[in-house]
Amino acid sequence: MKPPPPSSSSSTSNLIRKARLSPYLFTLLAFVLFVTILYGQDLGCILGQLDLDISQIQPPSTPKKHYKKLPFTKSEVRENGCDYFSGQWVWDPLNRPLYQESECPYIQPQLTCQEHGRPDRDYQFWRWQPHGCSLPSFNASLMLETLRNKKMMFVGDSLNRGQYVSMVCLLHSLIPDNAKSMETFGSLTVFTMKDYNATIEFYWAPFLLESNSDDAIIHRVSDRVVRRGSINKHGKHWKGVDIMVFNTYLWWMTGLDMKILQGSFDDEEKEIVEVSTEDAYRMGIKSMLRWARKNMDPKKTRLFFTSMSPSHQKSQDWGAEAGGNCYNQTEMIADPKYWGTDCRKSIMGVLGDVFRKSRFPVTFLNITQLSLYRKDAHTSIYKKQWSPLTPEQIANPTSYADCVHWCLPGLQDTWNELLFAKLFYP
Ligand SMILES: *[C@@H]1O[C@H](CO)[C@@H](O)[C@H](O)[C@H]1NC(C)=O
Ligand SMILES: *[C@@H]1O[C@H](CO)[C@@H](O)[C@H](O)[C@H]1NC(C)=O
Ligand SMILES: *[C@@H]1O[C@H](CO)[C@@H](O)[C@H](O)[C@H]1NC(C)=O
Ligand SMILES: *[C@@H]1O[C@H](CO)[C@@H](O)[C@H](O)[C@H]1NC(C)=O
Repeated sequence: MKPPPPSSSSSTSNLIRKARLSPYLFTLLAFVLFVTILYGQDLGCILGQLDLDISQIQPPSTPKKHYKKLPFTKSEVRENGCDYFSGQWVWDPLNRPLYQESECPYIQPQLTCQEHGRPDRDYQFWRWQPHGCSLPSFNASLMLETLRNKKMMFVGDSLNRGQYVSMVCLLHSLIPDNAKSMETFGSLTVFTMKDYNATIEFYWAPFLLESNSDDAIIHRVSDRVVRRGSINKHGKHWKGVDIMVFNTYLWWMTGLDMKILQGSFDDEEKEIVEVSTEDAYRMGIKSMLRWARKNMDPKKTRLFFTSMSPSHQKSQDWGAEAGGNCYNQTEMIADPKYWGTDCRKSIMGVLGDVFRKSRFPVTFLNITQLSLYRKDAHTSIYKKQWSPLTPEQIANPTSYADCVHWCLPGLQDTWNELLFAKLFYP
């Protein structure tokens, strides 16, 4: 048999197949890696420019530049192509819920739905199943060991507080009673795990920036004002954090332009400008990232951001008769493309845009779509009420159902399973 003639064809796959057999490949890869580092570009992107077929090459170890460096991770390379946030809910009463409502004393009475008379429990039995891979199961001892001598912090609004409480509930049963405590000091709530020299904390800052809604208890202000450039007002209380979880969304949704204060809240003549919700929100997210760059070490710490938590205020959004909301909903929405009207796509666009350009690595918990299906998972009327109900309200439960917050145990445990997955196996 004749050896094939030296090919004058410039067929790419030919080139690669040959290259694989020779040290040439390594020279090529070394060059590509060098260029990657030099220009901070994606390997795939550069190969794309060279017009090579990437699928043909299996380099010894393609470093995924963002993931390789992330602290706490257990897998070097991201599970190939699997998006944890794209999937479906699976009925799994054997393995859900991950804890019992009555066994977690830290759930605030606004979220204990069973205690407040919710007649069904179906919302507790769903497990999130990504397309194309499985979520690693939440390992509470691994999480606790990881937190040893560390501080984990959730900063944001009441939805982030729900995720915080869920995390505490997922871990607390491994800690004996005399070695754990939860205390609140103004805007800060601290869960201490004595034997681990560790804390999990929640800090109330619904806009992250300073605002007129910052009082930890009395914050129901309709005419909301946010102060530009004020991230350190709250940020000074967040220092030394190892794992940070931010959220902010709902408070920006006033339905009007956002009022931005230029000076200080103490100024006698306040200079206020009105900007679009999107521009205001972008400013807030950028401030958050600036704070992270100045105060967190990306080699040792991790920054998470939880996307918009959806509400279910209008039954016509999911094709039901108008006039209803999440009240009396015990089934989820089946349409995989469901988006509704309570979540702004433009805000998702801002997040994607700002995080893509971020110099600080952000782990994005994109829980919006998977939560949008869950009109069944809200606290609805089964919660402690702030003030006594009027006879009119009692006669019309839809009028006072809470279609923003979520029962615990429930949906937000899944957010933490996703956090766990992205922390260790991004
Ligand atoms: C959970 O994590 C602990 C501590 O890292 C480990 O010893 C244990 O094997 C893990 N359990 C499971 C079920 O993976
Ligand atoms: C407790 O944790 C802090 C960090 O949160 C650390 O600085 C300190 O050294 C730890 N203490 C002990 C006794 O390990
Ligand atoms: C709740 O919904 C069911 C149908 O799913 C309906 O039969 C029932 O009347 C509703 N209950 C109330 C109190 O609205
Ligand atoms: C989050 O997920 C939704 C739906 O799955 C998608 O449309 C959106 O682009 C994602 N957002 C970002 C910033 O990746």
